[in-house]
Amino acid sequence: MYKIVSIPGDGIGPEVVAGALEVLEKVGRKHGLDFSVEEHPFGGASYDLHGEMLTDATLEACRNCDAVLLGAVGGPKWENLPHDKKPEAALLRIRKELGLFANLRPAKVYDALVDASSLKDEVVRGTDFLVFRELTGGIYFGQPRGFDENRGWNTMVYERYEVERIARLAFEAARKRSGRVMSIDKANVLEVSQFWRNVVQEIHKDYRDVELNHMYVDNAAMQIVRNPKQFDVIVTGNLFGDILSDIAGMITGSLGMLPSASIGSKHALYEPIHGSAPDIAGRNIANPIATIASVAMMFEHSFRRTDIATEIYDAIENALASGIRTADIAKPGEKTVSTTDMTNAIVRQL
Ligand code: IPM
Ligand code: MN
Repeated sequence: MYKIVSIPGDGIGPEVVAGALEVLEKVGRKHGLDFSVEEHPFGGASYDLHGEMLTDATLEACRNCDAVLLGAVGGPKWENLPHDKKPEAALLRIRKELGLFANLRPAKVYDALVDASSLKDEVVRGTDFLVFRELTGGIYFGQPRGFDENRGWNTMVYERYEVERIARLAFEAARKRSGRVMSIDKANVLEVSQFWRNVVQEIHKDYRDVELNHMYVDNAAMQIVRNPKQFDVIVTGNLFGDILSDIAGMITGSLGMLPSASIGSKHALYEPIHGSAPDIAGRNIANPIATIASVAMMFEHSFRRTDIATEIYDAIENALASGIRTADIAKPGEKTVSTTDMTNAIVRQL
């Protein structure tokens, strides 16, 4: 029996999570696996109910389950709260409290969607790389931080153990892929980046079979758009990873396609990369694929069932190959389907 905590959250979150849970149920039936799914409020939905974006009860539930599935949080309704009360702050807190130090963001271009990308077919076709973004350190969490009338400040700091553990994960992953790691930093300017680079090089001594290269983050931003196929595994810090994974997301056509896994030594949380998209919330038109693919990542990383993960990815691929499109991935004038239609099409493939 696997215990899953579902956090639909705000905006389109509930719609895409509902789709993902149907897929979960389907593969459960098919493979004779039992899941208990417990729903908890988080973000704006929680704020409206309890006056807090993240309650102790939700956090406790996340600590006591096998995997968390999260939709999205935030929206205009809660935008004007003070900095530390915003949904974003709650998201950072849940990452920190659960120790989710590694954020995995795959950038994979589905053949059926090559022409949904803003880049040329020959540039994007076959792109398949994996970003390891450090998630609980760096400038997102460094002290001191603050601002007053005349000054604003944050601190970018990395501890040795923080760089070591994410570097190890990246090298391990590269071993199972094409065997290449690109570490991305700003070592020509930032001391913290020089430190990052030194530690990654030290850890590399344990992974001589993997090829390690380094790139400055500004160049990397350009290279991802110029020739994304040169990358296999990327490892980088929190802020650089945030920015580069959005760039990486866009070359695949739509952020609506991309899943993520946030992993620590005890806990794991899976969520689509896209946000809560308040403009289309409640209309049953959001693309559920990113959240469904997040369930695939859950099988891969939390339940060690790559066979089931592959089945889910294949089902997505086949549904797309049959020509079915939500609005975000449709060509102008092309017929589009609803969130539930896309979900059903994928479930049927399974
Ligand atoms: C992401 C988001 C978050 C981040 C925000 C919402 C706090 O942009 O998951 O990439 O910056 O980490
Ligand atoms: Mn981001």
